[in-house]
Amino acid sequence: MLGIIGGSGLYQVEGIKVLEELEVKTPYGEPSDKYIYAEYKGKKVIFLPRHGKKHKFPPHLINYRANLWGFRKLGVNKILSISAVGGINPLLQPGDFVISDQFIDFTKVRPVTFYEGIYTIYDEADFKGDLVDEYMKNDRVVHIDVTEPFCPVMRKTLFNIMEEKKFRYHKQGTYAATEGPRLETAAEIKALQRLGADIVGMTLVPEIVLARELAMHFASINVVTNLAAGISKERLTSDEVIQMMHQKNEDIKQIVLSFVEKIPKEFNCLCSKVLEGAAI
Ligand code: HPA
Repeated sequence: MLGIIGGSGLYQVEGIKVLEELEVKTPYGEPSDKYIYAEYKGKKVIFLPRHGKKHKFPPHLINYRANLWGFRKLGVNKILSISAVGGINPLLQPGDFVISDQFIDFTKVRPVTFYEGIYTIYDEADFKGDLVDEYMKNDRVVHIDVTEPFCPVMRKTLFNIMEEKKFRYHKQGTYAATEGPRLETAAEIKALQRLGADIVGMTLVPEIVLARELAMHFASINVVTNLAAGISKERLTSDEVIQMMHQKNEDIKQIVLSFVEKIPKEFNCLCSKVLEGAAI
């Protein structure tokens, strides 16, 4: 099943039929909010607002492990994540979509893995009998491959939708994940640009890493809400981020609904095999 994570300014998906709101318990504590179990054209999806419905969690305090574990518990194995980002690459304009293909991690204080002996509080009701369970049960140390962190099948599906809808978008982009919650200095953005980053945001990591640790497919739609610090001549505000997300709300809705409809049956990628041979 497909899970959808909404970022800043996206706390629900219009156009999907809500079937149930689900409160999920996890060994990692509380997810950001209740999960919205919904349906569109006969396909079931589960939505979660990353920051909570009332946007109460700043990026560094989001319980990413609980969020991802909750999705796993509900049977989700593919995640479509939607995020607001700052544009670093001069080719990017506010309002553009970027289907990122790489990330660079500059986060500092977040729990980054499921594989660190949490089995002591592991609930048997969460058991699925897969490699995740086997590794956790046996307290294994796991190093997942992230050479190609995003699911190529999901990204290709997004490309097709973007072409069809004729939205201005970029087929690739390196996402620099910063710790936040403060924005960056102009010097930091200059440094990130030299390192090859195209966009900057505060939430992709560890979200994608944890999804991958659960052998899920993951793709991200990034909305450039502002030019990053120093690239913009103006002072940055959260108001402009939220305003741009609202402006793009209808386009995002169309992309998400189309994605739910068009998601392929077969995934001929390696995402679901990432745990094979990954434990010491
Ligand atoms: N920096 C970090 N995160 C962001 C930005 C930014 O400029 N815009 C939206 N999220």
